[in-house]
Amino acid sequence: MPSRTRARSTLAAAVRLVLAAVVTMALSLAVVPQAQAAAAKPSITKKYFGTMPDGKKIDIYTLRNSRGMRVNILTYGGIIQSIDVPDKRGKFANVALGFDNLPDYVNKSLYFGAIIGRYANRIAKGRFSVAGKTYQLPVNDGPNSLHGGTKGFDKRVWAAHPFNRHGSVGLELTYTSPNGEENYPGTLRTKVVYTLTNDNKIRMDYSATTDRTTVVNLTNHTYFNLHGEGDGRILDQRLQINASRYTPIDKTLIPTGQIARLSGTPLDFRRPTTIGARINRKNQQLERAGGYDHNYVLDRHGRGLQLAAKAVDPRSGRVLEVITDQPGLQFYSGNFLDGTLRGTGGHLYQKRSGFTLESQHYPDSPNHKNFPSTVLRPGDTYRTTTIYAFSTTR
Ligand code: BGC
Repeated sequence: MPSRTRARSTLAAAVRLVLAAVVTMALSLAVVPQAQAAAAKPSITKKYFGTMPDGKKIDIYTLRNSRGMRVNILTYGGIIQSIDVPDKRGKFANVALGFDNLPDYVNKSLYFGAIIGRYANRIAKGRFSVAGKTYQLPVNDGPNSLHGGTKGFDKRVWAAHPFNRHGSVGLELTYTSPNGEENYPGTLRTKVVYTLTNDNKIRMDYSATTDRTTVVNLTNHTYFNLHGEGDGRILDQRLQINASRYTPIDKTLIPTGQIARLSGTPLDFRRPTTIGARINRKNQQLERAGGYDHNYVLDRHGRGLQLAAKAVDPRSGRVLEVITDQPGLQFYSGNFLDGTLRGTGGHLYQKRSGFTLESQHYPDSPNHKNFPSTVLRPGDTYRTTTIYAFSTTR
């Protein structure tokens, strides 16, 4: 080929290359950002989930943030049905135990993801006195009342109002518990606001008012497995709880009333320790509960939101921090899961395949004068906030 012709064809090839590059760039500018913008816009959508035995329709709301984190919430029990968060490589998994259908929630659930009330945790023999009157609650856990009684807030249908505020999406849930429901005094008007922020936090703002003096203690009962629900293992996940004391329990898991030091016990999680490292140690407290099922008295400095606990899954690098204004945190290692419940992803939930970190007032507070008070009076507003903050290790 003469050199001039060669030069011309080289030039033509170069022009083609540049053109191709320009077209690709233009295309990517035109298409990709739009697609990203669409995916990045926080959204909330509603779908039908199921029908209650009494005919009430239950919805499932999907909250999505700008980073693609996704949280499903049911109007039944205000249940967090799933939480999809990325691992350190960006791979998403659902880290909350749950079911894919309403009948399983209604018939079998062990409080998966639910709002717990009116009184989270146990009240001894279901009995307490407030404002000079004694109340007998239904007992549903051996001799005691657990998580609000036979039909607590986890089994109620909540009214839902989705919102989009300051770039975050959320769901406001309300439920009015009539005076005398489950034998608790006072009409309790309850509101729980879930907000999914764009930095991968689920914020839960609870509030309640009453028309008669009563007791109240609300929490959320999400079981976590940071490697992904159904994976079966939490024992190698690392936990740190900012508490140097706890409330020891009797044989029926009711606080003895003592506030004891954790130092020197296998229940001490002040230094990050895997959940499984000491769970089978010979220890009366662990034996009574069949593992961890204890209220930690948080080491707090004043009021407001403070870090209570941090869990890390070394395999996926997923990190969960629980931030709260509450005085206590129940750490429960899923000891009563027994391999009979089939979860969202189709796997059976084995013993200790999920853990809960329930921010709360101490169990059985109405019967212990030395515990912070859970009394709510007319004219006052019960308010509390807890945040589940997700991130990854590097
Ligand atoms: C309690 C456990 C109980 C479980 C029920 C937890 O909050 O601490 O004792 O068995 O809830 O799922």
